[in-house]
Amino acid sequence: MVELCGERTRLREFRVDDLDASLSVVGDDRVTRFLSFDSLSREIQAERLAGAIQRASLNPRTEFYLAVTGRADDQLIGFVRLGLGGVRAAKLGYAIAADHWGHGYATDAARTLIEFGFGELGLHRISAAIGPDNAASIALVRRIGFTREGRLRDHVHTNGAWRDSELYSILAS
Ligand SMILES: CC(C)(COP(=O)(O)OP(=O)(O)OC[C@H]1O[C@@H](n2cnc3c(N)ncnc32)[C@H](O)[C@@H]1OP(=O)(O)O)[C@@H](O)C(=O)NCCC(=O)NCCS
Repeated sequence: MVELCGERTRLREFRVDDLDASLSVVGDDRVTRFLSFDSLSREIQAERLAGAIQRASLNPRTEFYLAVTGRADDQLIGFVRLGLGGVRAAKLGYAIAADHWGHGYATDAARTLIEFGFGELGLHRISAAIGPDNAASIALVRRIGFTREGRLRDHVHTNGAWRDSELYSILAS
């Protein structure tokens, strides 16, 4: 079980009772218009949450997909994820409920998870693929030290259309 503490957030494993709070992230078009999937129904998110909880117990783990909470309480306000793949490599993802944007939560959560990735996990490379119009997310990865690598054409099909991604990465060095 992973539990990480940042300056503004805590990252912990998902629980079944996170369903309602997680729907305020993945069930909200304000958030999912920037993600690689459309807003999820309660039923689908219940299945996805159960899958995430199950994958957290795999050994070795395939991902570190964690709930983001504030420092002082245990309520989920977002998620952050490192999906492992390749040799000491991972893909970063994150989202915060729209009502909690602009308080530095995503920056802190992403930075905390990256430090864990390069530290405990011994990763070499972490990448992030971001919609070209997603200024907040591009600003975030730049702020925490990622470098732009290029444009992935028609990288995801989301919200009814193909979408390019800007590819960013950070190396252990
Ligand atoms: C991208 C996203 C995760 C950013 O979440 P967030 O918690 O609002 O991000 P942060 O607060 O860390 O940073 C965003 C802004 O808050 C500001 N900020 C940072 N620390 C702050 C603080 N302590 N107090 C107030 N504002 C702060 C930042 O300067 C930034 O402002 P700017 O964009 O005007 O420069 C959020 O917009 C989101 O969930 N978007 C939809 C999903 C998504 O795009 N996910 C990523 C897909 S690649």
